[in-house]
Amino acid sequence: MSTSLAWDERYASGDFQFGEAPNDYLRAQSWRLPPGGRALCVGDGEGRNGVFLAGLGLSVTTIDWSPVGVEKARALAARRGVALDARVADAAAWDYPEAAFDLIAWIYLHLPPAERAAAAAGCLRALRPGGLLVLECFSPAQEGRRSGGPKLPELLWSRAIAESLFAPLEVMEVTEGAVRLDEGPRHQGLAEVVRGVWRRP
Ligand SMILES: C[S@@+](CC[C@H](N)C(=O)[O-])C[C@H]1O[C@@H](n2cnc3c(N)ncnc32)[C@H](O)[C@@H]1O
Repeated sequence: MSTSLAWDERYASGDFQFGEAPNDYLRAQSWRLPPGGRALCVGDGEGRNGVFLAGLGLSVTTIDWSPVGVEKARALAARRGVALDARVADAAAWDYPEAAFDLIAWIYLHLPPAERAAAAAGCLRALRPGGLLVLECFSPAQEGRRSGGPKLPELLWSRAIAESLFAPLEVMEVTEGAVRLDEGPRHQGLAEVVRGVWRRP
């Protein structure tokens, strides 16, 4: 089982485990994003996605349960000269504010089923009407591949899981399939993912 301590140890190595550039899929959604809105990144690790969104002019809050990751996120934001409200928090237990965010980025956050459902419910509550949720996570076909992802199969996403957890949202697009990852030392090569964009009506 992955723990915050395990993530602290990974992040303490000094390198950015997923690179400093944002996730490609999140970047590709930039055209949809509201200028100057509020964004939340759940499980944002070392902050690459939160810092990217802050650079676009969004007011960004990030949560991650690894204090070492959050410290690196703050340092990356300072280095890039952007404001980032980076907090240490468990995504499954955070007190998600009601209708607070125009965008939620859920990028490679893999949780056990009960915690995943709790975090998804929190994200639904936290989205403003018209707000977008962007997700990219590994799918079951990733099992056994060396290009990244959790070891426990129950942590993997599927299109069906996403459609079920985000059922109250409008689907803008959702796919499950192969992509080529080039994101730091931990995400390299052909990978099987679910990615999608949902909108709160
Ligand atoms: C694969 S990394 C992805 C980090 C970041 N989203 C990115 O794409 O660069 C997964 C992250 O989820 C975080 N995480 C795992 N379980 C968590 C939980 N229950 N609450 C908050 N963060 C969690 C880990 O600490 C880690 O930073």
